[in-house]
Amino acid sequence: MINDNGIVVVAGATGNIGGKVVAELLRRGHRVRGLTRNPERARLPDGAEVAVGDLADPETVRPALAGASALFLLTYDAATGAPLRSGPELAKVVADAGVRRVTTLWGGETGPVEQAIADAGLAQTTLQAMEFMSNTLAWAESVRAEGVVREAFPEMRSALIHEQDIAEVAARTLTEDGHAGRDYVLTGSEVFTYADRVRVLGAGLGRDLRFIELTEEQARERMRQAGYSAEAVDHVIGWHADPPREGYTVSPAVEQLLGRPARTFAQWVAEHADAFR
Ligand SMILES: NC(=O)c1ccc[n+]([C@@H]2O[C@H](COP(=O)([O-])OP(=O)(O)OC[C@H]3O[C@@H](n4cnc5c(N)ncnc54)[C@H](OP(=O)(O)O)[C@@H]3O)[C@@H](O)[C@H]2O)c1
Repeated sequence: MINDNGIVVVAGATGNIGGKVVAELLRRGHRVRGLTRNPERARLPDGAEVAVGDLADPETVRPALAGASALFLLTYDAATGAPLRSGPELAKVVADAGVRRVTTLWGGETGPVEQAIADAGLAQTTLQAMEFMSNTLAWAESVRAEGVVREAFPEMRSALIHEQDIAEVAARTLTEDGHAGRDYVLTGSEVFTYADRVRVLGAGLGRDLRFIELTEEQARERMRQAGYSAEAVDHVIGWHADPPREGYTVSPAVEQLLGRPARTFAQWVAEHADAFR
């Protein structure tokens, strides 16, 4: 039986993108159940149910999916810092629950979870969101303290996307027909090098910022010290050294799906300026 009662289960509900997906669905009047591994720490907006489950151990997710008609899915396991390996078991639990629509946020490349959900014949929409604007928050401390941004690969170009645009697209694909089997490449409407990005950030803060180029090894060491797994370090550095074309090519998908232009980086900076002051 396929459920069509409107309960949307959101994985990553305590996180950056999932949290915005929860808020956007609630704003549109949908019933939302947020999935978390740590319910005692989860702070979800009023109106959202909290459900416990670990995507790496799919049987634990079964109760959370009871009666759900849609699922927002992540493909990355925070515990291992690597893509989830539980695809086939997860797909079975989702299919058994009668979930009608799955929207999967990829982790930078198509992985075993998306493949397993597709192989199970579930109606999946994949959101290939390129670099999030919120990655810029990693610069907040050095900008506040020294007015400096340190990165390797200064010429890397990126069509950064605003997190709220991802959330609004997800809210539609989770609750509307017509998106099954589609892979949407999601970007913003502008392409930036690090120099462009630092300039827009500085303009928004009303202050001159300096860019200091790191070597690749310094960038790797910084990620290792921040606790990233070896696999995550290789993935991020590999992307920065040689990003896929989609990462620096403006995609029309946000505008086509939302009927308005993608939010700009200047807008993101204005919304987050306090974090850099
Ligand atoms: N940063 C980028 O530019 C970028 C670009 C494309 C794709 N992505 C992908 O986007 C995803 C979401 O990013 P984000 O910024 O929203 O991440 P985030 O703020 O770190 O949130 C991650 C969420 O995932 C949940 N989670 C992690 N492992 C889980 C598991 N095994 N079972 C259930 N829930 C689990 C956590 O929930 P609990 O701790 O509450 O369980 C947390 O709420 C990432 O996985 C990343 O791979 C990132």
